[in-house]
Amino acid sequence: MPRVTIYNPRGELEAEGEAEPGMNLLETSVKLGARHGSACGGVCSCSTCHVWIKKGVASLAEQEDAEADILDRAFDVKPSSRLGCQAHLSNVDVAYQITEESERTWYDEHPKERHEAEAAGIWPPPAGPKSAP
Ligand code: FES
Repeated sequence: MPRVTIYNPRGELEAEGEAEPGMNLLETSVKLGARHGSACGGVCSCSTCHVWIKKGVASLAEQEDAEADILDRAFDVKPSSRLGCQAHLSNVDVAYQITEESERTWYDEHPKERHEAEAAGIWPPPAGPKSAP
């Protein structure tokens, strides 16, 4: 089983653990408890599940044209960018960073958690480093 490490947009560890080969990164984030947004529900039509792959990019299922078209709409697209709902794991360990756009979407989708985070002073987050180690 691949071991997955997930960073938040500030480069801090968000979650880690094992996942099943064949799972996509969005499913993996949900399984491991990471704040990974998905406005369209994982059907490749919104770009809010955008992540930057830090390790294991070549091991992921190849990018299809539909994913590339949707990624064109995302913010801060890099060569390591993938849509979490379209990138599927193999048996290789992977690390990725959730983008600001995706984290913001997750908080929009989880108003109770957003209000709690606002009350605790952790949302919105302070500006910080944008790249994971
Ligand atoms: S969740 Fe909308 S494109 Fe992935």
